[in-house]
Formats: sequence, structure tokens, C-alpha cells
Amino acid sequence: MTRYAHIIGWGMSVPTHILTNEDLAKMVDTNDEWIQSHTGIRERHIAGPRETTATLAFDAAAKALSVSGIPARHIGLIIVATSLPEYHFPSTACIVQDQLGASRAAAFDILAACSGFIYALSVASQMIISGAYENALVIGSETLSRLIDWNDRSTCVLFGDGAGAVVLQSSETPGGILSIALHADGSGGDLLIVPAGGSHLPASLETIEDNKHTIVMNGREVYRFATRAMVSSTLEVVEKAGLSLDDIRLVIPHQANRRIIESAAKNLELPLDRFFINIDRYGNTSSASIPIALCEAIDTHLIHPGDHIVMVAFGAGLTWGSAVVKWVATGARKPTRYVWAQRLLARARHTARHASRQVGDLLWGKNE
Ligand code: UT7
Repeated sequence: MTRYAHIIGWGMSVPTHILTNEDLAKMVDTNDEWIQSHTGIRERHIAGPRETTATLAFDAAAKALSVSGIPARHIGLIIVATSLPEYHFPSTACIVQDQLGASRAAAFDILAACSGFIYALSVASQMIISGAYENALVIGSETLSRLIDWNDRSTCVLFGDGAGAVVLQSSETPGGILSIALHADGSGGDLLIVPAGGSHLPASLETIEDNKHTIVMNGREVYRFATRAMVSSTLEVVEKAGLSLDDIRLVIPHQANRRIIESAAKNLELPLDRFFINIDRYGNTSSASIPIALCEAIDTHLIHPGDHIVMVAFGAGLTWGSAVVKWVATGARKPTRYVWAQRLLARARHTARHASRQVGDLLWGKNE
């Protein structure tokens, strides 16, 4: 039996706080005109103190599950792509697994920066196609605002926070993820890097004083790489799927810079309206940008059953990758009730665990 991995659920979550270009102009030497003309960004969502990579991931995942109609206990695999996990360990995927009550799921994180969602989608879809799992959750979630040097105008205007998720399901119906192309070139690692906080340069007073825990980027070089990668990766994955560019209804590119998307459209000789663009409202949300864009493309009825779409990403590493999907899903259920129920359940589980720890501490005298 040939198996296919279909996307049957999707969801997104962004923090409530919006930071506009005008707000940024009050913080650093920049202005709305420069940011819009050089990047296409108008505003971005920034996580508040109670919003984290895990809370956003959970919210997006609960919505995706609700749309799919699959109960959390039927999920066999959860992969979170993120550049800033909740902790070094445990993985963010394990936190989400617990909060969802997906008690049978294996869970782990993937770090491939802005290409992370495509990398995670590749692993999950191969696991489904091989027959290892029936249902999988793939999440991209980021709070890169916490890695930003808010005095560096060349990076602080670019990034935003958010999460997006999809549910993949095994099916005998042809379609779903048709092809994937992944690449990496570690020789470009220093072009986009957070120097400290890992094994190479653990956190210390010096690393904090030297401001080494924030994003450092060679914007021009990353731009050059990105424009090439978007084109080559799109052509490669479309050919791998046995299709031509004329068969592609919509390209969902990583949202890093509107000019990069425009350049890719020009070089692929495709009209710009074949590319989904929402960078104006979210900035670059790294591994979350493609699943967020996918959700908005579905909600605005730009994707229909039978359509072929391309998702294409690039990012730190350097990494790049793309996927061709033959869309099969039809209408979506309203997520609201299910998501609220999931949130209440997660809160109840958290409170119960906290209470049981306190009782344990009292019984075993830890508070004395
Ligand atoms: O997910 C992957 C992540 N990263 C990317 O994809 C980023 C790829 N790179 C880019 O998108 C672009 O290179 C940037 C948007 C980062 C920069 O745009 P650019 O057109 O390459 O600008 P630039 O770095 O060449 O700088 C041009 C000028 C410089 O001033 P001088 O030296 O010409 O006087 C910068 O200092 O613009 C200045 N500048 C700014 N001015 C106002 C840089 N950032 C700002 C700013 N506001 N925010």
C-alpha cells in the first residue's frame, strides 16, 4: 500500500502586542519609510512576559488539532521547529505534548532556523509515508524578539514572534506532501548567528556585558544567498514532484524581506500575485513564517482542493529547503470551543501538578 502524508489541520498564534515602525522610530535611528521600502514590514507582534515559544506553539497546535478533528491522544509524533526553545532542555515539543495531553506522542525539537518548518515537515512526512505514524503535529514557533539587540537598527526592525502548526495524516489517497528538497551550507554559519549562550560561549558576566546573546547578521550576504536559494530550491522541488512552474497555484515563501520575494518572482518569471505575502503585518517570524502564511492563505480562500503549492524557506545555518504540496483538505471546523477546552485542560493539568509538588514538599519537609 502506498501511503501519502496529507495536511488536514492548521492553526496559528501570534502575541497580542503589536510593535509598529513608528514605535521603533522612537527607539532607534530609523523610520517607517526606510523599513517599508527596504523590507516591506509595517508592524510585528512581540511576545509579552506570559507569552513564550511553548505557549504560542501550544495555541497554534490546539487550533490545528481542532481543524483536523483529531483528538490529541491520536497524535503519534510532535516536532517543534524553533530557534529559541523554551529551555535548552526539556524540548519545547515535550512541553507542548504534555499541555495538549498527547500522551502517546513522541516529541522532539528541530533547529534549522528559518528553514525549520520545512525540515520538520520533511521528517514528519517521511515518518508517515514509511508507516511509522498515522498522525503527526508539525509546529514552527518563535520568540526571536528575546534575541534582539534593541539598539541595533539593522536587525531589530526585521523580526517578530508567532507560531504556526499543521496536522499531517496518513492516507492512501494520492496527494499531500509530494516532494521535499533540503540543503545546508555550514560554511556560512557566521553570517547569521547568536554568538553566546551555547557550548562554545556559555553565559557569563562577560558575554552579557559584551552583548553576545543577540542576533548578529550580515544582512547583505544573507540577502544575496536568499535570492539564489529561493529560486534554485523552488525549481528543484517542483521538478522533483514531476511538475512545472505552470502547475503551481501558490508559492508560500519564508517572509524575511518583501524584496527577496519580489526578486524570486522575477527570476522564476512568475507573477508576484502567485506569491503569498504577509510580511507587512508580522515581520520575519523565522520557522513560524511559512505555517502562519499558510493559515492566512487558507483563510483568505487562496488554496483549494487539487491545488499544488510550493513552500520555500532559507535561514541561518545556512539552511534552505522547499516542499510541494498537493492540497486535499476541504473546509475547516471552527476551532474556538475546542481550543478553549484545551487551554482549560492545560491550565488544570499545570495547577494539579503544581499542587501535587507543593503537597509533596510539605510531606517531605522541603519547606522547613
Ligand atoms: O530569515 C533570514 C533572515 N535574514 C534575512 O533574510 C535578511 C536579508 N537581508 C536583508 O533583508 C537586507 O540586507 C536588510 C533589510 C537587512 C538591509 O537592507 P539593505 O538594503 O541591504 O541595507 P544595507 O545593510 O545595505 O544598509 C543601507 C543603509 C546603511 O547606511 P549607510 O551605511 O548606507 O549610510 C545602513 O546603516 O541603511 C542603513 N540602515 C538603516 N537605516 C534606517 C540599516 N538599517 C536601517 C534602519 N533604518 N532600520
